[in-house]
Amino acid sequence: EKGEHKHFMAKEIFEQPTVSAYALGHYLNAERTAVRGEAADIPFDEADRAVLVACGTAHYACHVAKYWFERLARLPVEIDVASEFRYREPPLSRRDVAVFVSQSGETADTLAALRHARPQVRMAAAVVNVPESSIAREADLAMPILAGPEIGVASTKAFTNQLITLAAMAIAAGRRRGALDAEAEARLVGALSELPRLMAEALRRAPEIEAAAARIAQARDVLYLGRGPMYPLALEGALKLKEISYIHAEGYASGELKHGPIALVDPQTPTVVMAPRDALFDKTVSNMQEVMARGGRIVLITDAAGAEAAGEGAERVIRMPDCDPFVAPILYALPAQLLAYHAAALLGKDVDQPRNLAKSVTVE
Ligand code: M6R
Repeated sequence: EKGEHKHFMAKEIFEQPTVSAYALGHYLNAERTAVRGEAADIPFDEADRAVLVACGTAHYACHVAKYWFERLARLPVEIDVASEFRYREPPLSRRDVAVFVSQSGETADTLAALRHARPQVRMAAAVVNVPESSIAREADLAMPILAGPEIGVASTKAFTNQLITLAAMAIAAGRRRGALDAEAEARLVGALSELPRLMAEALRRAPEIEAAAARIAQARDVLYLGRGPMYPLALEGALKLKEISYIHAEGYASGELKHGPIALVDPQTPTVVMAPRDALFDKTVSNMQEVMARGGRIVLITDAAGAEAAGEGAERVIRMPDCDPFVAPILYALPAQLLAYHAAALLGKDVDQPRNLAKSVTVE
Protein backbone atom coordinates (compact mmCIF):
# COMPACT_ATOMS: atom_id res chain seq x y z
CA GLU A 1 0.00 0.00 0.00
CA LYS A 2 0.96 3.63 -0.53
CA GLY A 3 0.98 4.52 3.17
CA GLU A 4 1.46 8.23 3.75
CA HIS A 5 2.25 8.84 0.06
CA LYS A 6 -0.17 9.96 -2.64
CA HIS A 7 1.32 7.72 -5.30
CA PHE A 8 3.28 4.48 -5.47
CA MET A 9 6.00 6.38 -7.31
CA ALA A 10 6.52 8.69 -4.32
CA LYS A 11 6.52 5.74 -1.94
CA GLU A 12 9.09 3.95 -4.07
CA ILE A 13 11.32 7.02 -4.34
CA PHE A 14 11.28 7.34 -0.55
CA GLU A 15 12.03 3.63 -0.09
CA GLN A 16 15.46 3.99 -1.68
CA PRO A 17 17.44 4.49 1.55
CA THR A 18 15.94 1.21 2.79
CA VAL A 19 16.09 -0.97 -0.32
CA SER A 20 19.56 0.24 -1.31
CA ALA A 21 20.70 -1.24 2.02
CA TYR A 22 19.25 -4.63 0.99
CA ALA A 23 21.34 -4.68 -2.18
CA LEU A 24 24.43 -3.45 -0.33
CA GLY A 25 23.94 -6.14 2.32
CA HIS A 26 23.79 -8.78 -0.39
CA TYR A 27 26.74 -7.68 -2.53
CA LEU A 28 29.16 -6.25 0.08
CA ASN A 29 30.86 -8.12 2.91
CA ALA A 30 29.91 -7.36 6.52
CA GLU A 31 33.10 -5.34 7.08
CA ARG A 32 32.27 -3.22 4.01
CA THR A 33 35.69 -3.79 2.49
CA ALA A 34 34.98 -6.14 -0.42
CA VAL A 35 32.38 -7.27 -2.93
CA ARG A 36 30.83 -10.69 -2.39
CA GLY A 37 28.00 -12.82 -3.75
CA GLU A 38 27.15 -13.41 -7.40
CA ALA A 39 28.84 -10.13 -8.36
CA ALA A 40 32.19 -11.72 -7.52
CA ASP A 41 31.43 -14.95 -9.42
CA ILE A 42 31.55 -13.67 -12.99
CA PRO A 43 34.73 -14.60 -14.90
CA PHE A 44 35.53 -11.08 -16.09
CA ASP A 45 39.23 -11.99 -15.96
CA GLU A 46 38.61 -14.39 -18.84
CA ALA A 47 36.69 -11.79 -20.87
CA ASP A 48 37.81 -9.33 -23.50
CA ARG A 49 34.54 -7.44 -23.40
CA ALA A 50 31.28 -6.99 -21.51
CA VAL A 51 28.07 -6.55 -23.47
CA LEU A 52 25.27 -4.89 -21.49
CA VAL A 53 21.75 -5.10 -22.94
CA ALA A 54 18.44 -3.71 -21.66
CA CYS A 55 15.53 -1.37 -22.46
CA GLY A 56 14.48 2.04 -21.17
CA THR A 57 15.64 2.95 -17.69
CA ALA A 58 17.50 -0.36 -17.32
CA HIS A 59 19.46 0.60 -20.44
CA TYR A 60 20.48 3.88 -18.81
CA ALA A 61 21.71 1.90 -15.79
CA CYS A 62 23.90 -0.06 -18.23
CA HIS A 63 25.11 3.21 -19.75
CA VAL A 64 26.32 4.42 -16.33
CA ALA A 65 27.91 1.00 -15.72
CA LYS A 66 29.93 1.32 -18.93
CA TYR A 67 31.83 4.21 -17.36
CA TRP A 68 32.49 2.14 -14.22
CA PHE A 69 33.62 -1.03 -16.00
CA GLU A 70 35.93 0.85 -18.32
CA ARG A 71 37.47 2.99 -15.58
CA LEU A 72 37.67 0.47 -12.72
CA ALA A 73 38.26 -2.76 -14.61
CA ARG A 74 39.79 -1.48 -17.88
CA LEU A 75 37.27 -3.71 -19.61
CA PRO A 76 35.80 -2.57 -22.94
CA VAL A 77 32.02 -2.41 -22.74
CA GLU A 78 29.38 -2.38 -25.40
CA ILE A 79 25.89 -1.23 -24.48
CA ASP A 80 22.77 -1.49 -26.57
CA VAL A 81 19.00 -1.39 -26.33
CA ALA A 82 17.68 -4.93 -26.63
CA SER A 83 15.48 -4.25 -29.67
CA GLU A 84 18.50 -3.08 -31.69
CA PHE A 85 20.98 -5.60 -30.33
CA ARG A 86 19.25 -8.75 -31.48
CA TYR A 87 18.32 -7.66 -34.96
CA ARG A 88 21.84 -6.39 -35.58
CA GLU A 89 23.08 -9.94 -34.98
CA PRO A 90 26.31 -8.56 -33.51
CA PRO A 91 29.41 -10.76 -33.57
CA LEU A 92 29.78 -12.41 -30.14
CA SER A 93 32.40 -14.76 -28.78
CA ARG A 94 33.40 -16.98 -25.89
CA ARG A 95 35.50 -14.04 -24.64
CA ASP A 96 32.35 -11.94 -24.08
CA VAL A 97 30.38 -11.75 -20.86
CA ALA A 98 26.84 -10.60 -21.60
CA VAL A 99 24.64 -8.96 -18.97
CA PHE A 100 20.88 -8.49 -19.37
CA VAL A 101 19.26 -5.98 -17.04
CA SER A 102 15.50 -5.98 -16.47
CA GLN A 103 13.40 -4.96 -13.48
CA SER A 104 10.48 -7.20 -14.45
CA GLY A 105 12.56 -9.95 -16.02
CA GLU A 106 9.80 -10.27 -18.63
CA THR A 107 10.63 -7.58 -21.21
CA ALA A 108 10.21 -9.36 -24.54
CA ASP A 109 13.10 -7.72 -26.37
CA THR A 110 15.53 -8.27 -23.50
CA LEU A 111 14.47 -11.92 -23.19
CA ALA A 112 14.90 -12.43 -26.94
CA ALA A 113 18.34 -10.79 -26.80
CA LEU A 114 19.34 -13.15 -23.97
CA ARG A 115 18.17 -16.18 -25.97
CA HIS A 116 20.12 -14.96 -28.97
CA ALA A 117 23.37 -14.29 -27.10
CA ARG A 118 23.54 -17.04 -24.51
CA PRO A 119 24.77 -19.90 -26.73
CA GLN A 120 27.57 -17.71 -28.12
CA VAL A 121 29.12 -16.07 -25.05
CA ARG A 122 31.24 -17.12 -22.06
CA MET A 123 28.45 -16.30 -19.64
CA ALA A 124 25.02 -14.66 -19.87
CA ALA A 125 24.15 -13.04 -16.55
CA ALA A 126 20.84 -11.39 -15.65
CA VAL A 127 20.28 -8.49 -13.25
CA VAL A 128 16.62 -8.67 -12.23
CA ASN A 129 14.18 -7.54 -9.59
CA VAL A 130 11.85 -10.53 -10.01
CA PRO A 131 13.87 -13.66 -9.25
CA GLU A 132 11.27 -16.08 -10.66
CA SER A 133 11.05 -14.21 -13.99
CA SER A 134 11.78 -15.68 -17.43
CA ILE A 135 15.03 -13.70 -17.83
CA ALA A 136 16.29 -14.88 -14.42
CA ARG A 137 15.42 -18.51 -15.24
CA GLU A 138 17.05 -18.54 -18.65
CA ALA A 139 20.33 -16.81 -17.72
CA ASP A 140 23.47 -18.69 -16.63
CA LEU A 141 23.55 -16.58 -13.48
CA ALA A 142 20.72 -14.46 -12.01
CA MET A 143 21.63 -11.53 -9.81
CA PRO A 144 18.80 -10.10 -7.68
CA ILE A 145 18.59 -6.33 -7.14
CA LEU A 146 16.35 -6.73 -4.07
CA ALA A 147 14.33 -3.54 -4.59
CA GLY A 148 11.03 -5.16 -3.60
CA PRO A 149 7.89 -4.89 -5.76
CA GLU A 150 7.85 -1.79 -7.97
CA ILE A 151 4.28 -0.74 -8.82
CA GLY A 152 4.70 2.70 -10.41
CA VAL A 153 5.21 2.44 -14.16
CA ALA A 154 8.11 4.89 -13.88
CA SER A 155 11.07 2.91 -12.61
CA THR A 156 12.80 4.52 -9.61
CA LYS A 157 14.08 2.26 -6.83
CA ALA A 158 14.79 -0.49 -9.35
CA PHE A 159 17.09 1.90 -11.25
CA THR A 160 19.20 2.74 -8.20
CA ASN A 161 19.39 -0.90 -7.10
CA GLN A 162 20.37 -1.93 -10.65
CA LEU A 163 23.16 0.65 -10.39
CA ILE A 164 24.33 -0.70 -7.02
CA THR A 165 24.42 -4.24 -8.42
CA LEU A 166 26.30 -3.14 -11.53
CA ALA A 167 28.72 -1.08 -9.42
CA ALA A 168 29.51 -4.16 -7.31
CA MET A 169 30.08 -6.14 -10.52
CA ALA A 170 32.42 -3.46 -11.89
CA ILE A 171 34.48 -3.45 -8.68
CA ALA A 172 34.67 -7.26 -8.69
CA ALA A 173 35.72 -7.14 -12.34
CA GLY A 174 38.46 -4.65 -11.44
CA ARG A 175 39.78 -7.00 -8.78
CA ARG A 176 39.70 -10.10 -11.00
CA ARG A 177 41.44 -8.26 -13.81
CA GLY A 178 44.14 -6.81 -11.54
CA ALA A 179 43.08 -3.23 -12.21
CA LEU A 180 42.15 -2.62 -8.53
CA ASP A 181 44.03 -3.67 -5.40
CA ALA A 182 42.38 -4.57 -2.08
CA GLU A 183 42.77 -1.02 -0.83
CA ALA A 184 41.08 0.50 -3.86
CA GLU A 185 38.28 -2.05 -3.56
CA ALA A 186 37.79 -1.15 0.11
CA ARG A 187 37.59 2.55 -0.73
CA LEU A 188 34.95 2.01 -3.44
CA VAL A 189 32.95 -0.39 -1.28
CA GLY A 190 33.11 2.12 1.57
CA ALA A 191 31.73 4.80 -0.77
CA LEU A 192 28.84 2.55 -1.82
CA SER A 193 27.98 1.73 1.78
CA GLU A 194 27.38 5.44 2.46
CA LEU A 195 24.46 5.48 0.02
CA PRO A 196 21.52 4.79 2.39
CA ARG A 197 22.55 7.76 4.54
CA LEU A 198 23.25 10.01 1.54
CA MET A 199 19.94 9.07 -0.08
CA ALA A 200 18.01 9.89 3.10
CA GLU A 201 19.75 13.25 3.16
CA ALA A 202 19.02 13.90 -0.53
CA LEU A 203 15.33 13.18 0.04
CA ARG A 204 15.25 15.95 2.64
CA ARG A 205 15.71 18.36 -0.29
CA ALA A 206 12.22 17.41 -1.57
CA PRO A 207 10.67 20.85 -0.79
CA GLU A 208 13.36 22.67 -2.84
CA ILE A 209 12.91 20.17 -5.64
CA GLU A 210 9.15 20.64 -5.59
CA ALA A 211 9.64 24.40 -5.91
CA ALA A 212 11.91 23.87 -8.94
CA ALA A 213 9.34 21.44 -10.39
CA ALA A 214 6.73 24.21 -10.41
CA ARG A 215 8.85 25.96 -13.08
CA ILE A 216 9.46 22.77 -15.02
CA ALA A 217 5.71 22.04 -15.02
CA GLN A 218 5.07 25.25 -17.01
CA ALA A 219 7.51 24.37 -19.78
CA ARG A 220 6.78 22.76 -23.11
CA ASP A 221 10.34 21.48 -23.55
CA VAL A 222 13.11 20.79 -21.05
CA LEU A 223 16.79 20.02 -21.64
CA TYR A 224 18.86 17.85 -19.29
CA LEU A 225 22.65 18.03 -19.41
CA GLY A 226 25.38 15.93 -17.78
CA ARG A 227 28.96 14.87 -18.44
CA GLY A 228 30.72 11.54 -17.97
CA PRO A 229 28.60 9.16 -15.87
CA MET A 230 26.14 12.01 -15.31
CA TYR A 231 25.31 11.98 -19.03
CA PRO A 232 23.19 8.80 -18.77
CA LEU A 233 21.56 10.43 -15.73
CA ALA A 234 20.53 13.33 -17.96
CA LEU A 235 18.96 10.79 -20.33
CA GLU A 236 17.18 9.10 -17.43
CA GLY A 237 15.97 12.42 -15.97
CA ALA A 238 14.49 13.38 -19.34
CA LEU A 239 12.83 9.96 -19.76
CA LYS A 240 11.24 10.18 -16.29
CA LEU A 241 9.85 13.65 -17.01
CA LYS A 242 8.34 12.76 -20.37
CA GLU A 243 6.86 9.46 -19.17
CA ILE A 244 4.77 10.90 -16.37
CA SER A 245 4.30 14.62 -17.10
CA TYR A 246 4.11 14.39 -20.94
CA ILE A 247 6.45 17.38 -21.16
CA HIS A 248 8.92 16.97 -23.97
CA ALA A 249 12.41 16.52 -22.54
CA GLU A 250 15.77 15.58 -23.99
CA GLY A 251 19.00 14.58 -22.33
CA TYR A 252 22.36 15.47 -23.84
CA ALA A 253 26.00 15.16 -23.00
CA SER A 254 26.91 18.71 -21.88
CA GLY A 255 29.64 18.95 -24.51
CA GLU A 256 27.11 18.26 -27.26
CA LEU A 257 25.15 21.41 -26.44
CA LYS A 258 26.76 23.56 -29.08
CA HIS A 259 26.46 20.84 -31.70
CA GLY A 260 22.72 21.37 -31.99
CA PRO A 261 20.49 21.50 -28.92
CA ILE A 262 21.56 25.03 -27.99
CA ALA A 263 19.30 26.15 -30.83
CA LEU A 264 16.36 25.21 -28.59
CA VAL A 265 17.43 27.43 -25.70
CA ASP A 266 15.13 30.35 -24.96
CA PRO A 267 13.60 31.77 -21.76
CA GLN A 268 10.74 29.27 -21.96
CA THR A 269 12.99 26.18 -22.12
CA PRO A 270 14.51 25.29 -18.75
CA THR A 271 17.80 23.39 -18.66
CA VAL A 272 18.46 20.96 -15.83
CA VAL A 273 22.20 20.55 -15.25
CA MET A 274 23.31 17.54 -13.21
CA ALA A 275 26.85 18.23 -12.09
CA PRO A 276 28.62 17.35 -8.86
CA ARG A 277 31.87 19.28 -8.38
CA ASP A 278 34.25 16.85 -10.06
CA ALA A 279 37.12 17.01 -12.53
CA LEU A 280 34.71 17.95 -15.34
CA PHE A 281 32.78 20.59 -13.44
CA ASP A 282 34.47 23.68 -14.87
CA LYS A 283 33.62 22.61 -18.38
CA THR A 284 30.00 22.14 -17.38
CA VAL A 285 29.92 25.63 -15.87
CA SER A 286 30.98 27.09 -19.20
CA ASN A 287 28.17 25.13 -20.90
CA MET A 288 25.77 26.63 -18.35
CA GLN A 289 27.02 30.10 -19.15
CA GLU A 290 26.34 29.49 -22.82
CA VAL A 291 22.75 28.62 -21.93
CA MET A 292 22.37 31.67 -19.69
CA ALA A 293 23.82 33.99 -22.34
CA ARG A 294 20.88 32.98 -24.54
CA GLY A 295 18.30 33.76 -21.87
CA GLY A 296 17.98 30.13 -20.77
CA ARG A 297 16.99 29.34 -17.19
CA ILE A 298 19.02 26.78 -15.27
CA VAL A 299 18.11 24.31 -12.56
CA LEU A 300 21.49 23.18 -11.23
CA ILE A 301 21.71 19.95 -9.24
CA THR A 302 25.11 19.95 -7.55
CA ASP A 303 26.89 19.83 -4.18
CA ALA A 304 28.02 22.65 -1.85
CA ALA A 305 31.34 23.17 -3.69
CA GLY A 306 29.55 23.14 -7.04
CA ALA A 307 26.99 25.68 -5.86
CA GLU A 308 29.82 27.91 -4.69
CA ALA A 309 31.88 27.55 -7.87
CA ALA A 310 28.97 28.03 -10.27
CA GLY A 311 28.33 31.46 -8.80
CA GLU A 312 25.19 33.41 -9.50
CA GLY A 313 23.08 32.83 -12.50
CA ALA A 314 21.33 29.53 -12.01
CA GLU A 315 17.67 30.19 -11.29
CA ARG A 316 17.47 27.26 -8.90
CA VAL A 317 20.22 25.33 -7.17
CA ILE A 318 19.40 21.95 -5.63
CA ARG A 319 22.17 21.00 -3.22
CA MET A 320 23.01 17.34 -2.87
CA PRO A 321 25.08 16.11 0.06
CA ASP A 322 28.80 15.72 -0.64
CA CYS A 323 29.64 12.25 -1.90
CA ASP A 324 32.41 10.25 -3.50
CA PRO A 325 32.23 10.95 -7.28
CA PHE A 326 31.93 7.17 -7.83
CA VAL A 327 28.45 7.06 -6.29
CA ALA A 328 27.19 10.42 -7.62
CA PRO A 329 25.26 8.84 -10.53
CA ILE A 330 23.32 6.76 -7.99
CA LEU A 331 22.64 9.61 -5.58
CA TYR A 332 21.70 12.15 -8.28
CA ALA A 333 19.00 9.83 -9.62
CA LEU A 334 16.86 10.82 -6.62
CA PRO A 335 16.49 14.55 -7.37
CA ALA A 336 15.86 13.70 -11.04
CA GLN A 337 13.05 11.34 -10.00
CA LEU A 338 11.56 13.87 -7.59
CA LEU A 339 11.69 16.66 -10.16
CA ALA A 340 9.70 14.55 -12.62
CA TYR A 341 7.35 13.32 -9.92
CA HIS A 342 6.48 16.77 -8.61
CA ALA A 343 6.09 18.27 -12.08
CA ALA A 344 3.64 15.51 -13.03
CA ALA A 345 1.80 15.63 -9.70
CA LEU A 346 1.42 19.43 -9.96
CA LEU A 347 -0.05 18.98 -13.42
CA GLY A 348 -2.51 16.44 -11.99
CA LYS A 349 -1.27 13.58 -14.16
CA ASP A 350 -1.85 9.92 -13.42
CA VAL A 351 1.67 9.43 -12.10
CA ASP A 352 1.49 5.70 -11.42
CA GLN A 353 -0.28 4.74 -14.64
CA PRO A 354 0.81 7.15 -17.36
CA ARG A 355 -1.08 7.00 -20.64
CA ASN A 356 0.11 4.58 -23.32
CA LEU A 357 2.62 2.82 -21.01
CA ALA A 358 2.66 -0.61 -19.37
CA LYS A 359 4.77 -1.72 -16.42
CA SER A 360 6.20 -4.60 -18.30
CA VAL A 361 6.48 -4.64 -22.08
CA THR A 362 5.95 -8.26 -23.04
CA VAL A 363 5.43 -7.71 -26.77
CA GLU A 364 8.23 -6.79 -29.14
O1 M6R B 1 11.21 -4.46 -16.69
P1 M6R B 1 12.33 -3.83 -17.47
O2 M6R B 1 13.40 -3.26 -16.61
O3 M6R B 1 12.91 -4.76 -18.51
O4 M6R B 1 11.68 -2.63 -18.25
C1 M6R B 1 12.42 -1.88 -19.17
C2 M6R B 1 11.70 -0.61 -19.55
O5 M6R B 1 10.45 -0.92 -20.15
C3 M6R B 1 11.44 0.31 -18.34
O6 M6R B 1 12.62 0.64 -17.68
C4 M6R B 1 10.76 1.61 -18.79
O7 M6R B 1 11.63 2.38 -19.56
C5 M6R B 1 10.25 2.37 -17.54
N1 M6R B 1 8.88 2.72 -17.71
C6 M6R B 1 11.08 3.57 -17.25
O8 M6R B 1 10.59 4.33 -16.18
